[in-house]
Amino acid sequence: MATAAGSSDAAVKGLILSGGTGTRLRPITHTSAKQLVPVANKPVLFYGIEAMAAAGIEEIGIIIAPETGAEIRAAAGDGAQFGLRIEYIEQEAPLGLAHAVLTAEPYLGDSPFVMYLGDNLLQGGIVDLVDAFREHRPDALILLTPVSDPQNYGVAELRDGAVVRLTEKPPEPATDLALVGVYMFTSAIHDAARAISPSNRGELEITDAIQHVVDAGLRVEPHIVRGWWKDTGRLDDMLAANRLVLDTIEGRLEGELIDSLLDGRIVVETGAVLERSTVRGPAIIGAHAHVTDAYIGPYTAVGERCVVRKAEVEHSILLAGSSVSDLNGRMESSLLGRDASIGRSPRQPRAFRFMVGDNSEIWIL
Ligand code: G1P
Repeated sequence: MATAAGSSDAAVKGLILSGGTGTRLRPITHTSAKQLVPVANKPVLFYGIEAMAAAGIEEIGIIIAPETGAEIRAAAGDGAQFGLRIEYIEQEAPLGLAHAVLTAEPYLGDSPFVMYLGDNLLQGGIVDLVDAFREHRPDALILLTPVSDPQNYGVAELRDGAVVRLTEKPPEPATDLALVGVYMFTSAIHDAARAISPSNRGELEITDAIQHVVDAGLRVEPHIVRGWWKDTGRLDDMLAANRLVLDTIEGRLEGELIDSLLDGRIVVETGAVLERSTVRGPAIIGAHAHVTDAYIGPYTAVGERCVVRKAEVEHSILLAGSSVSDLNGRMESSLLGRDASIGRSPRQPRAFRFMVGDNSEIWIL
């Protein structure tokens, strides 16, 4: 049986949006896609892919940008590592989420699909969402969560349990219900995306496309998210996501401890060596990292091959290959890019010496 919107028993596909430039996470995103910045040492993007796999989705299209597409492909591959099939769809310019849907139309065909913004993290996964969609057969299903700053998101108004109005980043929001970056659509969304015009920021907004579906008299079902949701677009959000995920880890010791103390839930990956150091969890120490005469505090993710020597690091994310050594004070709430290094120079004159990339931020004591 097919509904008006063309949804049927066809297998649900996945669409992950992994384009975008990540301006709010510069300088990290000058050289790397924002969706690959790690949370608890795993790229943000992988959480979305794993959520899809857990919901039984077998085919995923990933929207990529020309600049960062190769890196995304190299990381996620053909999907075998997640137990599903991935195809890549290039969006030539970041012209909006609804434009991304149109770009993916040949791949999606008539299939219903889950759309997931590649820099979003959703604690509860999407199993409930996909089940509700299969059971209730709405024309679209949106996820909502109350936030303190709704003016920064798409905002929904509900009446009698149905969605009546959606507004993208309204200066004076009518409710505090933000659109979470995970949506479920039938093929009705394609015509809606074709019917709308670009917004003030020059993008085809998915929020406007969903409003178009509502206006056409079709049924858009709201789902209030239980558990946390994070859009990891900014440093503070990234650190918060890292905290939330680390709060759920189980301790595991695969590396080597020499005169060191682990306190709390800590993952020490293969080949990591901790020497005369203390780690207070929750924390993760990546493969082949070296932590010597150091203190690693709660909510820290030390990437693979990192070096922390004679230093204290807390509530921070260190990307692969970065190093921190000989600091007088404790480093905290920081994000270090790949192979970045912070240390002390023995040379004269005794001065601060920096080589800092565009848009970097340094705060000293
Ligand atoms: C986008 C959507 C917005 C939604 C948000 C969730 O905003 O346009 O409706 O609430 O994602 O992360 P953007 O990240 O493009 O500002």
